Amino acid sequence: MKRLRVAVLISGRGSNLRALLEAAASPAYPAEITLVLSNRRGAGGLAHARRADVPTAVVDHTAFADRAAFERAMEAEIAAAGVEAICLAGFMRRLTAGFVERWRDRMINIHPSLLPAFAGLDTHRRALEAGVRFTGCSVHFVRTEVDSGPIIVQATVPVLPGDDEERLAARVLTAEHRCYPLALRLLAEGRLTIVGERVEISDGRAPDTVAINPMP
Ligand code: GRF
Repeated sequence: MKRLRVAVLISGRGSNLRALLEAAASPAYPAEITLVLSNRRGAGGLAHARRADVPTAVVDHTAFADRAAFERAMEAEIAAAGVEAICLAGFMRRLTAGFVERWRDRMINIHPSLLPAFAGLDTHRRALEAGVRFTGCSVHFVRTEVDSGPIIVQATVPVLPGDDEERLAARVLTAEHRCYPLALRLLAEGRLTIVGERVEISDGRAPDTVAINPMP
């Protein structure tokens, strides 16, 4: 089986990266992580990559005059690793339209809300303030606007009495770790077709349950 060659871009702790590395550790998984690239030297996620024997690169954005130069340096690393698709996993730099277009339909991101609700920062605080009964996470193809693009996988997570940002974020993160490997698998298996900015999934199984919060 030819596996899809993937770069994971991170800025921080890298728990989603770890979930992807764990999935890709199985030879049956259709994608392999060939590069982990961080814009921060101190990103905790780099240790997960090293432990899994995956090559790492640090491209420090503060060392470049502008975004385009920073991205050229990243793309040199990405090209050298023969990368075919990119996963953004807690990568905290905005990408230029040029970069996004070059990787159109080959770059995906995870966001800790049910998009299009609560795009951007402070997601969990805003969900709590809005009083939603459910939040969740989304994996989507990347478009120029932050946290926008065709949605591949979503999971719902209930908001529980007494939740604060930290508790809610932890519950959503557990769902993220299931969704990201699933979304990358669907991409690598060639099962995603974008039709009018919506994703069609071949042989996708839909859940047959309805979630209600609070329970009736
Ligand atoms: C996750 O909540 C992800 O959805 C968001 O940033 C966070 C990254 O966490 N984009 P980690 O670095 O994967 O642990």
